Amino acid sequence: MTGTRAYGYTDTLEAEHYGTALRADVGAGLTRTPKSTAPTWFYDARGSELFEEITQLPEYPLWRAELGLLRLHAGDIAARTGARSLVELGSGSSTKTKLIIEALGPTGLHYVPIDVSADALHQAGAQLVQEYPGIRLHALRADFTAPLVLPELPAEGSRIIAFLGSTLGNFLRPARGPFLRGLRDIMRPGDFLLIGADLVKDEQEMIAAYDDVQGVTAEFDKNLLHVLNRELDADFDPDAFDHAAVWNSGESHVEMRLRSRTEQLVKIRELDLAVPFERGEEWITERSAKFTVSGLQQEMAAAGLRTRELWADPDAGFMLTLATAH
Ligand code: SAH
Ligand code: AVI
Repeated sequence: MTGTRAYGYTDTLEAEHYGTALRADVGAGLTRTPKSTAPTWFYDARGSELFEEITQLPEYPLWRAELGLLRLHAGDIAARTGARSLVELGSGSSTKTKLIIEALGPTGLHYVPIDVSADALHQAGAQLVQEYPGIRLHALRADFTAPLVLPELPAEGSRIIAFLGSTLGNFLRPARGPFLRGLRDIMRPGDFLLIGADLVKDEQEMIAAYDDVQGVTAEFDKNLLHVLNRELDADFDPDAFDHAAVWNSGESHVEMRLRSRTEQLVKIRELDLAVPFERGEEWITERSAKFTVSGLQQEMAAAGLRTRELWADPDAGFMLTLATAH
């Protein structure tokens, strides 16, 4: 934390941890068939900025659908939980979270935004303390795929752990169970988990959400190549790849893929690795699961989480669910 910052900030991802996880994921991901890497690495400053642009695209209605549900139900969330602490995973700009913060009452509220992007945390943090001078904000730069160690929170009052934006869908189905159980394990009796999830809908709509006409999502996808060039001293040529979005009905997720335009060999010097790509070969850069209301409830129940409230927007195909540990 710097002397001038008006909020607490802890970076648990010092260069070493971030670099170790990045090297391990990219080293394993680009030597398997099909190639696939974690979506975590999109989010440097530019990636976070591009995600914010995506949220405003006509093809990406899910962000606004969740905003709409929160406008309608933030008051219900506050009334049901009476929470005085709010922990948020993958908080990004915290824009939608403001509705929850306002409903809970910002003065004296402990808010812990957790994100891998330091830039997103700093921008959101500076804005939140200016807007809500009485808020107790402690930003945490951490990887939510690893066990979470939360900053100290007051013992009294219930807590909400929020995971919005359908970011749960970026976990593969087999990984979601252990992840949800991990969250359940850090919840105390009386704490709540709030999850926003995008629902299965028309296939063309789901694909268009990841392949917009302006090409913003393509730029977001290719930002990964810039991150790898910078962080791992690689020589990816972004013009040598095309962006694609594909619906995988068996797994119920949309895959973002980078397709190699030519046969090429890419050097990743930090890994001492040369990665061959065939012409047309596809590398899966992100999976975004689409849920059903009952399917998600079953997954949560299997992880020991009991749904207490459920708000769905059937037109927009999005749901919010509020659960407690059994
Ligand atoms: N919840 C926000 C942002 C969603 S974008 C919204 O709905 O608008 C996903 C966010 O998760 C990004 O801010 C990204 O930096 C963060 N993120 C992605 N992978 C992460 C990881 N492994 N650990 C922590 N944060 C991560
Ligand atoms: C953050 N996450 C849930 C978004 C999604 O829909 O999977 C990221 C994103 N990728 C492309 N567009 C948006």
